[in-house]
Amino acid sequence: MPEEVQKGLEDVVALASRITFIDGNEGRLVYEGYDIRDLAERSTFEEVAYLLWYGRLPSATQLRDLKERLRPLREIPEELRALLARLPASAGPMDALRTAVSALAILEPGETKTGESSIGGALRLTAALPTIVSEQNRRRQGLEPLPLRPELDHAAHALYLLTGREGNALENRSLDVALILHADHELNASTFAARVTASTLSDLYSAITSAVGTLKGPLHGGANERVMELLRAIDTVDRVEPVIKEKLARHERIMGFGHRVYKVEDPRATILRVWSQRLGEAAGNLRWYDLLRKVEEVVHREKGLYPNVDLYSGSVYTLLGIPDDLFTPLFAMSRVAGWTAHVLEEYEDLRLIRPVAQYVGPNHLAYVPIAERPD
Ligand code: SDX
Repeated sequence: MPEEVQKGLEDVVALASRITFIDGNEGRLVYEGYDIRDLAERSTFEEVAYLLWYGRLPSATQLRDLKERLRPLREIPEELRALLARLPASAGPMDALRTAVSALAILEPGETKTGESSIGGALRLTAALPTIVSEQNRRRQGLEPLPLRPELDHAAHALYLLTGREGNALENRSLDVALILHADHELNASTFAARVTASTLSDLYSAITSAVGTLKGPLHGGANERVMELLRAIDTVDRVEPVIKEKLARHERIMGFGHRVYKVEDPRATILRVWSQRLGEAAGNLRWYDLLRKVEEVVHREKGLYPNVDLYSGSVYTLLGIPDDLFTPLFAMSRVAGWTAHVLEEYEDLRLIRPVAQYVGPNHLAYVPIAERPD
């Protein structure tokens, strides 16, 4: 008989993986053996994607080849452009992204394979997601899609696609770091959804469609949007304490705080706090940073909670000119590297993921014909 139910599979070890290690007590995040602080300081998103897919850092030649393979894959087929143009302007960006990944599987069946050949699909989706998010964002505003800029590296191109303008070196680097920080996070809900799908030998694109649908949930994606809404509502530093205390008194969740695994500060929050300050200083606008520092102080004092990745990411994206409702699609643009790495790993050592439930319903009931059932 199964053990006691662990609601939400909390602390359940579901599988072995060599991709990401999280030490929740020490606040450490490690991709394939490399500490996230080193990667955020010294790596790039393309290099980290290679690391997640191949399990090692690329040589200079391998990184150059990867970039050359990714660039043409930023283009999306005319049929997909037409589909994005036909979506109602009211379509949410995550719904549009989920639809587009699914449609791309139909338009490019060769890429959606299972097994070791799905690395092509991993490259394709990683390169194409920024284009898809940008196209739908522009179309819903009645704007023409932006011409792609193959000379720009991945993060700089993503920033250009999301804002319509080319970033400066500081802005491009800040987005590159944010993409590195969001690239993987072990068995978070959307990654687990992708692995469950892949474990049935369904194709890579179906697994990523599952992941996008899962990330859309507000307990997983979107907390950074809520953080920015909260900051705008609070408006000034002197109002932080009363507003936060009132929310906590009503047992409301303060977005950007708490985590299922981290028992101390999320190391990604530590890094994003620095970038939020750097961008704020460069823009002469420390409003968000100052408010967040005060929110942190009050929430930690009143509830003992630590910030997670979502507390400062919204301020970074806002300072970059990225609209709130593109924050979660941006999360997906990064996490697609981790999602696809986990799907590849699942295919390498496949085992159908099928847990059991503890049955708590009735049993051995006698069937009563409908004519004999009381109204
Ligand atoms: C991400 O899994 C991943 O790795 C996800 C992610 C990734 O990279 O993929 O890290 C990305 O999803 C980051 C999390 C973004 N979401 C939020 O910031 C939403 C707010 N946070 C919470 O909803 C919550 O902290 C969770 C969902 C993140 C974790 O919740 P748990 O582990 O299920 O904890 P819980 O709900 O059981 O709460 C434990 C206690 C409760 O207090 P009591 O009712 O027992 O008194 O802590 C309290 C909660 O009320 N609590 C909070 C809180 N988070 C937990 N109280 C106020 N504000 C919060 N944010």
